[in-house]
Amino acid sequence: MLNTNSESLQNLPDNCTFSESDWGVLSAYWHPVAYCDEVKEKPVLIRLLDEEIVLYRTSTGVTAAKDLCLHRGTPLSIGEVKGDEIVCPYHGYRYNSQGKCTLVPAHPESPIPGQLCLKTYLCQESYGLIWVCLNPQPQGTMVDFPEFDDPEFQIINVPTMDWTVSSGRQIESFSDVAHFAFIHNDTFSREEDAVVPKYQVKATPYGVSADYISTVGNAPRPADTPYNEKDEALWRRVYHIYLPFTVRLKIHCPVPEGGIITILNANSPLSAETSRLFAVVARNFDQDQPVKDVIDFQIKIYSEDRDVVQRQHPERLPLDLSDEVHVRADRTSITYRQELSKLGLGRKFTS
Ligand code: FES
Ligand SMILES: [Fe+2]
Repeated sequence: MLNTNSESLQNLPDNCTFSESDWGVLSAYWHPVAYCDEVKEKPVLIRLLDEEIVLYRTSTGVTAAKDLCLHRGTPLSIGEVKGDEIVCPYHGYRYNSQGKCTLVPAHPESPIPGQLCLKTYLCQESYGLIWVCLNPQPQGTMVDFPEFDDPEFQIINVPTMDWTVSSGRQIESFSDVAHFAFIHNDTFSREEDAVVPKYQVKATPYGVSADYISTVGNAPRPADTPYNEKDEALWRRVYHIYLPFTVRLKIHCPVPEGGIITILNANSPLSAETSRLFAVVARNFDQDQPVKDVIDFQIKIYSEDRDVVQRQHPERLPLDLSDEVHVRADRTSITYRQELSKLGLGRKFTS
């Protein structure tokens, strides 16, 4: 468990929607904030845990800094990147990749006050995503996504989706195996798939893993398709939840033999009740088929989830297991809630 430290609490964002202690815990983990190709020549404003952050790319990579010029509080995200520096639009102060001010145009010959240094955050590019940690001492395990660098796999980024729901609710929905027959019976499942066979769930050093084998496929399957013997084929889904809000799901397809689809579901907590979803799909077959079909299919599935999950109450995820009713099919969600509690998140509801 991470104890919230005084430094993180002092840094609580204005109008923070999290409890102080939940913010202190969550701020110590890596979170996805943008696709790498979204941050090019222009600065980009993102929000993470209620903090407004500017991302800008220089020759040394991407810098993440508090979106605030230290001179008169102008957001640097409305400025521009010039010559490897971000330039404030108001009086032209320039800051380098470390956030240090390099030029005060009104007094180019005078020494630059040492306080003119942006608050920067840990930032890395992995799996086509930019990840930020607001605490200089990160906790937890960065997700592993081996398919991303495997030449046998094709990588497809699904456009970002914003949800008015907490990250925890979205992660739980993505890892829930009992809703397929109801929410997704017009995309990949059907009403005959309602029974959830027994499956294995484990707490792991990084979070939770679940191994689920069923007849629920992962190919488009409109509701009016008649049931036939092909529908007896078994599909294996292996979930790895990296705490707090990233899941890698590997789907072993019966056809083609050896076919794998892996989905990196990386959720960014914008605030306690809003989140941004990044989904990266890797597949080792059908690579001559249109990428757009994969994107459209994923968006349709996620939209089906979002329509329901955004209506759940409470909006935040209850961590006290006595607050909702659980059955055997919910083993992943039970273990996920238990593991989130162990991080030190709120006993009642968390993001
Ligand atoms: S407010 Fe940024 S340079 Fe003055
Ligand atoms: Fe779903």
